[in-house]
Amino acid sequence: MSKVSALYPGSFDPPTNGHLDLIERGAKIFEELVVGILRNSEKSPMFSLAERLEMLKTLTAHLKNVRIEAFHGLMVEYAKSINATCVLRGIRAVSDYEYELQMALMNRKLEPTLETVFMMPADKYSYVSSRLVREVAQIGGPVKGLVPEVVEQKLREKLEPAYRFHDEMQEATARSSSGKEKKRKKKV
Ligand code: PNS
Repeated sequence: MSKVSALYPGSFDPPTNGHLDLIERGAKIFEELVVGILRNSEKSPMFSLAERLEMLKTLTAHLKNVRIEAFHGLMVEYAKSINATCVLRGIRAVSDYEYELQMALMNRKLEPTLETVFMMPADKYSYVSSRLVREVAQIGGPVKGLVPEVVEQKLREKLEPAYRFHDEMQEATARSSSGKEKKRKKKV
């Protein structure tokens, strides 16, 4: 069997532990894996393309057959330009299936020689998505364990006011409940 070069395309805004898990799995079975970050001018991403490139390069530095690049336009055309014969996509749950199937079939219509391969990330990441990570982080909520530490740090830097407000509220709540507890103990 010939050696396969694969493209793992996505928005990665931001990269999650689920993405990293899939990249590590893909790196084991493909000779070369290119992680292609979509440069999408229509969406307004939380992280710039440069930030996403930097984060993913740091996170995959230990994987010698993985390369991080950016692309625009049709994914199938980009795949062809880098000689990838396979597209890697992750399926976390049945809910992903319909969208992924539709996309894979459209891509097959556009480029019949390009195969899509689906892999499942570890089940502990089955509910983790960039969208939910952004939502939690925008309210200053904890994202530990959902994203790699470098990404967590970047989110904290970018959303510093939200995190400060959230931490202050948590501290105020803790102080108020410990005050109430002391009063209750005095009465008893
Ligand atoms: O991380 P995402 O947002 O689920 O990734 C979606 C992505 C980037 C793989 C998809 O939107 C894509 O391939 N866009 C490039 C434009 C394209 O080829 N569209 C046709 C898809 S059927």
